[in-house]
Amino acid sequence: MIVFASRVAATLALSVCLAAPGAAADIAAGKKKAGECTPCHGPNGLAVAPDAPNLAGDSVYYLTAQLKAFRSGARKHEQMSIIAKGLSDEEITDLAAWFSAIEVKATLPKMN
Ligand code: HEC
Repeated sequence: MIVFASRVAATLALSVCLAAPGAAADIAAGKKKAGECTPCHGPNGLAVAPDAPNLAGDSVYYLTAQLKAFRSGARKHEQMSIIAKGLSDEEITDLAAWFSAIEVKATLPKMN
């Protein structure tokens, strides 16, 4: 819990730096908006669609940059380009705060 809380605090601090002036990340709003992403990226940011990447635990910086790249057309994808076009700067900030705050654990494969 302490780790989670400090991660959220760090994420929020970072997103404030990355966000447009005056826009602070609203992680609860990000969680709500992320409901629209669940058919492909899963309810917890772990993808359920085979062609969709996991978003849980990605950095605020990366998530923000990718969503803005889809929105501007710098990165293109049939579905994501359309989805990102409808997102405001504030929604991107909130979504990035939410997905980055999800803690993921990795288990390396056993090598003999
Ligand atoms: C219909 C399925 C679908 C939905 C709904 C969807 N995505 Fe995606 N998303 C994808 C796919 C597929 C990709 C991989 C794009 C590619 O191959 O370039 C992707 C890629 C991304 C990436 C880049 C991740 C990376 O590792 O580079 C981000 C960030 C992202 N989506 C965020 C979102 C958010 C936020 C929402 C909800 C507002 C959302 N997506 C809704 C299918 C979806």
